[in-house]
Parts: sequence; C-alpha cells; structure tokens
Amino acid sequence: MRLLVVLFLPTILIAALAGCRMVEAKLPPPDKSYKFLVAIPAVRRNHWNMFKPLLIALANRGHKVVTIQTMAAAFTHPNITEVVVPVPSTTIASRFDVLHDPAGAMVLLEVYLVPLVSRFYSSPKVMQLYNTRHEFDVVMTDHLFNEIGYPFAVGMPFITLATAGVDPHQSAIMGNVLNPAYVPNAFFNYPRPYSLFDRLHNLYTILHEGGYWRVWGMMPKIQREVSVYFPELPPLLEIERNISLSLLNSHLGNSIPVPLLPSQVEVGPMHCVPGQPLPEDLSSWLDGGGVGGGVIYFSLGSVAKGVTMPDKYLRLFIETFSRLKYRVIWKYESKIEGISNNVFIKDWLPQQDILADPRVELFITHGGLLSTQESICHGKPLIALPVLADQPRNAKMIVNRGLGLALEWEELTVKLLVETIKEVLTNPKYKRNIEAASRVDRDRPQEPLETAVFWTEYVARHRGAPRLRSPAADLSWTEFLMLDVVAVVHMAVLVVFLVLRRLLSSLYSQLFTWHYKTKTD
Ligand SMILES: *[C@@H]1O[C@H](CO)[C@@H](O)[C@H](O)[C@H]1NC(C)=O
Ligand SMILES: *[C@@H]1O[C@H](CO)[C@@H](O)[C@H](O)[C@H]1NC(C)=O
Repeated sequence: MRLLVVLFLPTILIAALAGCRMVEAKLPPPDKSYKFLVAIPAVRRNHWNMFKPLLIALANRGHKVVTIQTMAAAFTHPNITEVVVPVPSTTIASRFDVLHDPAGAMVLLEVYLVPLVSRFYSSPKVMQLYNTRHEFDVVMTDHLFNEIGYPFAVGMPFITLATAGVDPHQSAIMGNVLNPAYVPNAFFNYPRPYSLFDRLHNLYTILHEGGYWRVWGMMPKIQREVSVYFPELPPLLEIERNISLSLLNSHLGNSIPVPLLPSQVEVGPMHCVPGQPLPEDLSSWLDGGGVGGGVIYFSLGSVAKGVTMPDKYLRLFIETFSRLKYRVIWKYESKIEGISNNVFIKDWLPQQDILADPRVELFITHGGLLSTQESICHGKPLIALPVLADQPRNAKMIVNRGLGLALEWEELTVKLLVETIKEVLTNPKYKRNIEAASRVDRDRPQEPLETAVFWTEYVARHRGAPRLRSPAADLSWTEFLMLDVVAVVHMAVLVVFLVLRRLLSSLYSQLFTWHYKTKTD
C-alpha cells in the first residue's frame, strides 16, 4: 500500500494542484495586475475555507491581495499580505445550549459581533488600511455576519462571498426577492410541495429573521458602534446596496434551482479540491484496520466544536465507537479518557484529504454547509447531527436526497447510533446516491473556481461592473411591491364605482319620476 502511494504520489500531487493550475491554464492571462482588499472582521475558520482557494488563485495570476481579519489564515503566498488583528476570544457559550433554537443562536452572535466593532476599529493597523483603501481596485467581504467591514467598501467596487449559498435575505438585498412559496428560509425546510401552513411558517421565518437582523435587533446595535468610528459615513445597510457582485457558495441553489441575477454567480463548491495523501501517522494507522474495514470520520466542524459537547453525548460516542468493528477518526480538541483503540483522535485533521481517501466510507457531521458539500464532492455518505443555524436544513436535504441519514441529539442512544451507522455503511443506496450527486455537481462547463476568478476580475476590469446591477436594488419596498400602484388602481376603481353609482342613482330617480309622472298624467 505504502509503495503504491509513493508510486502514485506525483500523480496525486498534480491532481491536488489541478484546481489552481486549471484556472491559470484555461483563463487568458489578466490584462493587468489588480489590487484586492479583503476585509472580513468576523470570519472564522470554516468561512476562510471558501475564501482561500479564490485568494490563492488570484494571487497565482499575479494580482496583489491584502486581507484584514481577526484570525490568522494559516497559509502564506508571496502575493498575499495578511493583516491580523487578534481579538481576545469571547467566552462563547456552548452551542448545545441553543440546540435547534435560531433565536438563541442569534443571541450568541450578538455577544460576539457587537463588541467586535470596537476591538477591530480601535486597531491602528485597521485604520491605516482603511485610509489607503482607495489604492485598491476591489474590496471583498463575506456576506454573512460581516457588515462590520462595510466601511471599507464605501464608494468602491465591492464583491461579497455568500458562504451560506442562496439565502433569501442576501438575495433580496441585490434586488432578487425569492418566492417563499418554494424557496426555504435559512433554518428550516419543509416537505414538497409546501402546504399552506409551511408557506405561512416560511414567510413568517423569513420576515422575522430579516426583521431581527436588519430592523430591530442586530444591525441597529452594530450601526451604533460603527458610527462612533465613522460618524460621517452612510449607514451600513445603505453601503450594502452598492454590492457589485456576489459569489454564492451553491450549485443549483444547493438543492433546488432558483432564478438568479447576473450579479449573483454560483461558484459552489469552489473550496472542494482533490485530496492529498494523508499524514503518515494517520495513514499507517488506517492500514492497520485491514481492507474493507469501513473507516468512519467524525467531526462537528469548527463552529460546533467537539469540546463544547455535553458530557452525556461524549460518553455516548465513546460507548458507541467501542462497540463497532470499524476504525473511527475523531476530530476532537482535547484528550479523552477511556477511549477504545479503534479510535484515532486529533484536534486538527485535513478534512478533504480524509474524505477523499478510499478507505473512509462514512462522515458523521454536524451538517454544516461546507462539510456537507465536501462530502458530496468526495462521494462519502453522511450521518448528520445538526446543532444550529442552517444545519437542520442541510440535514433534511441529506435525508430527502438519500445521501445518508440524520439524527436528533435529543433522541440519541448508543443502540440507535450503532444501528444508523450500520445502515449507512451496509446499505449501498447511500453510496450510490451520493456518487451520483457528486457526478452531477462536477458536470458543468467551467470549474467553479475558474468562474469565481473570471467574475472577480470582471468587476476589477469594469470598475464595479455597474451593468450587472439590478435596478430593483434601488427600489424601496413600496415601489418594488408596486404598493403605490396598487393603491392608485384601487383609488381609480373606487372613484369609477362612486361616479357610476351616483350616475345610476340619479338616472334611476329620474326614470322613476318620469314613470310616476306619466302614470299620474
Ligand atoms: C506574484 O505576482 C507576480 C506579478 O505581480 C507574478 O509574476 C508572480 O508569478 C506571482 N507569484 C506567484 C507565486 O504566483
Ligand atoms: C454607491 O455607488 C454610487 C455609484 O458608484 C455612488 O455614487 C454612491 O456614493 C455609492 N454609495 C455608497 C453608500 O457607497
């Protein structure tokens, strides 16, 4: 086996680099070297994974990229300059305290985002970069949780990466209001076709979450903090309306096709790359499991961290894994006592390389979008244990499309988990479905990363590409829904009705008088 890996190493490495190589080979060289400023104050590890391939591809094409963020990116490139503003880590409560509770998750975000504003903008490094932002050609940011970075975009061509893919709020800002009769909100999905109650619930959730974020909850608090540093700037939500382009982390809307504007370009999953050989310790440990052993990879991602898992679940997983004959790779951030020797634990693991390894046959995940996409990309069936945010929705998608199964934390028992694992590992339909999904995902005229590079350079070439922008983005809600027109039409109908009624009644009374007169005459 090791010999085989050594023999094929050059091929594997070439395949691993292919993602970036292909972009350079297929697109004509850029007309000049542009400067991109990437301002992402609130970006965590998982969102970085989406920025990384694009920034590297741009840098490989000779562009200069400067990033400003609060977490080191863990890669270096001669054409990428990283400015890191370390913020003291907030004591974030366990995500398990807000299991399946979108409102609770929002409170966690508030505790993190609102104080982040002053932590970020009180840094001289940030202000220095802010003052030189006009030297750049394009500003980029994340369209999720990063309104704090919008001051960098004032009067600049401005691209967002929508790491969550198609999202009704994000789309509406660009002038594309998706129909809640069939496009789900960010948290829940419903069986199709949506029933009357589902559509009511969907509309309510979209309006309520949007209202909380933009109107009465989060944004007013963030705006107040930002205005301390930038009293002269237009409001953040005003700046947001000027987005030139949004790159969406989705493909075919991720599960359903949706109408998109020319300024909304689907580039998901551009973070998906061919796997590289596993680290030596892990690889040789996997070899010890024998052939056809069915290795399980278990990770709750970087947001729903393993260490925040309540003790009862921790013990449940230890017990479950000890009853399996399969080997388990477990991403966990600290040591675990009493673990059986078929389990390999490490705090950081190369997820895509593991998923790409032919020995790995199942991914037990929290169902985050990026993890789910990577599993589809590498054709590995899933068991989803959603914790919060869009994870329940992704879990439903996994079940609906037969890519694996999903479990609720509250119903978890050792017996249920063992049975579910055995079902997904032994029933070939999950593998078949996810491999078919993977083939469909890859079948497109252009690599998603290439598409992303093309449109990013397009915005730089055309100084914001104003022609891409939908006029709908400039309309108020009254204008967009034509409420004023509806009011005018109603008024006109009312006037016509009143005039007719007046005419008819006077005609009638005249007829009546005439009739009465002729009778009495
Ligand atoms: C960095 O950019 C320059 C042009 O600005 C280019 O010649 C060089 O190849 C790039 N470096 C890498 C490692 O791609
Ligand atoms: C939006 O873009 C227009 C046209 O480029 C510009 O005049 C305006 O100042 C911009 N507004 C904001 C808030 O950046």
